[in-house]
Amino acid sequence: MQENFIQKCETIEDTKKLAYKFASLIKENGCFINLFGEIGAGKTAFVKFVAEALGIKEKVTSPSFVILNEYHSASIPVYHFDLYRLEHTGISTITEELREYSEGKKITFVEWAEFSQGELPFERIEINVTYDDDDSRIYSFKSIGNKNTKIIEGLSI
Ligand SMILES: Nc1ncnc2c1ncn2[C@@H]1O[C@H](COP(=O)(O)OP(=O)(O)O)[C@@H](O)[C@H]1O
Ligand SMILES: [Mg+2]
Repeated sequence: MQENFIQKCETIEDTKKLAYKFASLIKENGCFINLFGEIGAGKTAFVKFVAEALGIKEKVTSPSFVILNEYHSASIPVYHFDLYRLEHTGISTITEELREYSEGKKITFVEWAEFSQGELPFERIEINVTYDDDDSRIYSFKSIGNKNTKIIEGLSI
């Protein structure tokens, strides 16, 4: 059972390819995804490419100031949270609301402040994005719970 997958993306084109592959693996059944990494690492860039691959027609923007964007033009609904602004309130205040976004056939991305890592009590995929240099980034995927191991396996094929 594979729980981790790591890929170095030397250019933004590599990130696009990885995101398209990820989209193909989650588009039928949905997935709840947390993204971690410092500002400018490439969390929103990845979400934008996944949205493009899913056929979302609306412009995808960073939800930093609105907390949640949602898109209903693809065959599966896509929700995109940025919880950076919750930093001081803490994630515990909205955990149960987030759980609803992890159920059923939907795709939910949560860009997350670092401090909240590991706090959610339901199955998900965590993606850590780190700088390598210039346009090179490292995307590390981890499945939490058994439900998503097939997606991780799919990435490595
Ligand atoms: N290989 C790469 N993968 C992702 N983003 C890259 C890459 N190379 C350069 N970039 C740039 O890095 C920036 C990432 O910004 P963004 O995705 O908004 O960061 P975050 O959401 O993590 O704060 C974008 O300007 C993007 O074009
Ligand atoms: Mg962002």
